[in-house]
Amino acid sequence: MSGLRIAIGSDHAGYQLKHALKRWIAAEGHVVIDVGTDGSDSVDYPDFGYAVADAVTAGEADRGIVICGTGIGISIAANRRANIRAALCHDATTARLAREHNDANVLALGARVIDEDTAKACLATFLTTAYEGGRHDRRVSKLSPDHRAQKGVMERVDQ
Ligand code: RB5
Repeated sequence: MSGLRIAIGSDHAGYQLKHALKRWIAAEGHVVIDVGTDGSDSVDYPDFGYAVADAVTAGEADRGIVICGTGIGISIAANRRANIRAALCHDATTARLAREHNDANVLALGARVIDEDTAKACLATFLTTAYEGGRHDRRVSKLSPDHRAQKGVMERVDQ
């Protein structure tokens, strides 16, 4: 699949990996939307997790990639946005299952815990694997804010 619009963001720990993945994404024929960070100066990962998530939620990007040292903090941030399903993946298997079972729309990577080749394998699989649907539809729909609101989850949380 080519011609996707891919939003990518990282903190300082993920900056170098982001740079490498951007080149790979462009070479594959996709459009890169880089939301930063732009260097190795220390920054706060939530700012870039939110920026990628917002681009996907707004329909400006088809998929998102978020990168920090472990991938944990920035995936937590992205998942706080409505209709974002950010999956922290460590290999092609987790990337494949994140698409097939969870219909993940954001890939989270930890630049300090996987190497560049592994990150590229995750990304290639993430971009080319389709959601399976079927038995997963009900479960994925339960992740949506609409479902939570219907069940009164939001109201209970707000009390
Ligand atoms: C930055 O030192 C580090 O905390 C961050 O990149 C990330 O790993 C947080 O989850």
